[in-house]
Amino acid sequence: MLPSPLLTALRSARHLVVFTGAGVSAESGIPTFRDALSGLWQRFDPATLATPQAFRRDPALVWGWYEWRRMKVLQAQPNPAHRAIAELARHVAEFTLITQNVDDLHERAGSQDVIHLHGSLQQPRCFACARSPAAPLAPADEPEDGRRLEPPRCTHCGGRLRPGVVWFGENLPAAALNAAFDAARRCDLLISVGTSGVVYPAAEVPRLALDAGAMVLHVNPQAVAQPGEREFVLRGPAGAELPELLRQAFGA
Ligand code: OAD
Repeated sequence: MLPSPLLTALRSARHLVVFTGAGVSAESGIPTFRDALSGLWQRFDPATLATPQAFRRDPALVWGWYEWRRMKVLQAQPNPAHRAIAELARHVAEFTLITQNVDDLHERAGSQDVIHLHGSLQQPRCFACARSPAAPLAPADEPEDGRRLEPPRCTHCGGRLRPGVVWFGENLPAAALNAAFDAARRCDLLISVGTSGVVYPAAEVPRLALDAGAMVLHVNPQAVAQPGEREFVLRGPAGAELPELLRQAFGA
């Protein structure tokens, strides 16, 4: 049985925030950023693939790597954790989902209005004029591990398209960050799922909620936090812990 103060906090929450990281997609088989550097990509350092400088130097190398990751996401399915999060939204008056992930598995599990702090693999934009292409990216042929791919050209200015994700040295999208901080400050309960909490400014989100008086629940197989007066910890995989939380709180 889960701690009753946790179940009470969830049942009585008026505004629930769920904040997710790479761990929520782990059980869907999506490699985390560092795991993604496996196979033939292993010889690259993240900083040589995920920076504007890297794209300027070798756009086909960077685009090829992101297309490979995009294909991995397209081949994956949402897992019980994504589905439990979508279901939680139906049990509270106000719900905000904030993710650091660049995949679209929350949306495919039924979540709406997801705040993507680190952008999305599905929404490229022009490296030169920043405009988005009129049509979504087609599911390309699976690029081979390690294969370079020339980026498509912008239909507006002819520049190269770049992945719509936040790279090292770039700012997070301001509107997304402001919306995330605002929700964290206003919520009564924040559930932080599958994040190591070391990448800033995203990692400030649970701290802001705690400082503003909310309860915070961490769901992670690793010890990422100590249980405290207003902090709860569920040590386990999100795909098991979140459906169980939903079941015990709402019988769903
Ligand atoms: P990390 O890769 O830093 O951490 C993943 C977390 O998920 C770890 O704490 C794992 O213990 C946990 N985990 C693994 N399997 C899990 C499971 N089945 N259920 C629950 N948790 C599990 O990922 P993030 O915290 O998301 O940024 O990293 C943040 C950012 O670092 C990423 O968004 C990316 C990277 O640099 C950018 O690309 C800008």
